[in-house]
Amino acid sequence: MDSNPRVSVIGTGYLGATHAAAMAELGFEVVGVDTDQAKIDALAAGKVPFYEPGLDVLLQRHTESGRLRFTTDLAEAARWADVHFVCVGTPQRATSHAADLSYVEAAVTGLAAHLDHDALIVGKSTVPVGTAARLRELIRPQVPTDLRVELVWNPEFLREGKAVHDTLHPDRIVLGGTSPEAEATLRTLYAGPIAEGTPVVVADLPTAELVKVSANAFLATKISFVNAIAAVCEAAGADVTVLADALGHDVRIGRQFLDAGLGFGGGCLPKDIRALMHRSRELGAHRAAALLQQVDEINMAQRGRTVAMAVEACGGSVLNRRVGVLGAAFKPGTDDVRDSPALNVAAALHLQGAQVTVYDPQAGETARRTFPTLGFATSTREAVEGTDVVLLLTEWDEFLGADPAQLAGLTAHPRVIDARGRLDLGRWSAAGWEVRGLGRAA
Ligand code: UGA
Repeated sequence: MDSNPRVSVIGTGYLGATHAAAMAELGFEVVGVDTDQAKIDALAAGKVPFYEPGLDVLLQRHTESGRLRFTTDLAEAARWADVHFVCVGTPQRATSHAADLSYVEAAVTGLAAHLDHDALIVGKSTVPVGTAARLRELIRPQVPTDLRVELVWNPEFLREGKAVHDTLHPDRIVLGGTSPEAEATLRTLYAGPIAEGTPVVVADLPTAELVKVSANAFLATKISFVNAIAAVCEAAGADVTVLADALGHDVRIGRQFLDAGLGFGGGCLPKDIRALMHRSRELGAHRAAALLQQVDEINMAQRGRTVAMAVEACGGSVLNRRVGVLGAAFKPGTDDVRDSPALNVAAALHLQGAQVTVYDPQAGETARRTFPTLGFATSTREAVEGTDVVLLLTEWDEFLGADPAQLAGLTAHPRVIDARGRLDLGRWSAAGWEVRGLGRAA
């Protein structure tokens, strides 16, 4: 293949939009494709339709330079580009834990139907092991026999909120099921990060698919482990935040992903562990499925535990009590509220009759669209004013830096529950707050 291949990126969500902009930044001509006309119009105008720090700069730079364009015309992209990255979503199915592969199948078969020259199809979406081999079979009859079309897997490990950095400077590049030619093309496309020292792992297709879901499953397991220990800490009068710091000094353990609290949410970790659980069962790997089930259960229990703490703080019922919720996004640095533990807790308290007011520095609008019945504030002060209890549910810097003495004056009942283990409880207590924290003695 050409030493300067043209690139298409199919699916322009967090993953695809970032990948398209990063590929342009690495020097390639790129077209981004999506079925959502409004999203394509925004991106073509250099506007990111979600909050992702730094992405707007790259997008504007390359839509202006002409290196990056967007279209809804998959057929045109199929005929124009040489390498096609598939970045569409694989959400959890409505009726089971399995991943919904309909978008991936539609993208790959839609693309294959219009190919008129040799091409490399590179799957980046997170898929259950065995999907890529099946997709190869699916497109085989579609592709003219005189064309050389290869399908490989190259999973993506970017974090929302750090997507640009993670795409341009990944921890590793995994190339699954590549021929020597396909490997060479991908090494050309990733020459920038490889020159910086990013390791390349060449694997077969199923291993590449599994690396991705195993990485997310391991991160989820680490969080649920520390949350299980947090319950022991609470019962024994120990402090899980100090314990996590001490554990983290062991380089074999590491401090990251040991923040106990409300647990994990978002568009990836919850659905990925469930899809892996489902696939493990299908493959007869029942112990893996049982482990992941525990990880999921421990995680979901943290939400219930937080609701129970709020009820307790209000004397046994939240009916007609005013609850201030700090945070709506599933984590700081994003406006994504998919499977957000914060909103889940807010909605549960609302269902129990509380008057809930939520404030989030970025996710207010997306949260309001998802839960229009909750109350929304435009500042921390407004969310705290007149409350019976305040819950810290997403650890934005804005909340961690707030002055507890000033906030205490806004309510006759200064009570705070830190569900992210990030507040200086001593300082809040000294400022007159009654403090509780998950995994910390009352
Ligand atoms: C996750 C992975 O970290 C990425 O490597 C992966 O590429 C991505 O999923 C994906 O599959 O696309 P992301 O969903 O952006 O990235 O979020 P994380 O930073 O992993 O956080 C996930 C959740 O875990 C958040 O709700 C966060 O609050 C929670 N968390 C994280 C904890 O509860 N404790 C911790 O110590 C760390």
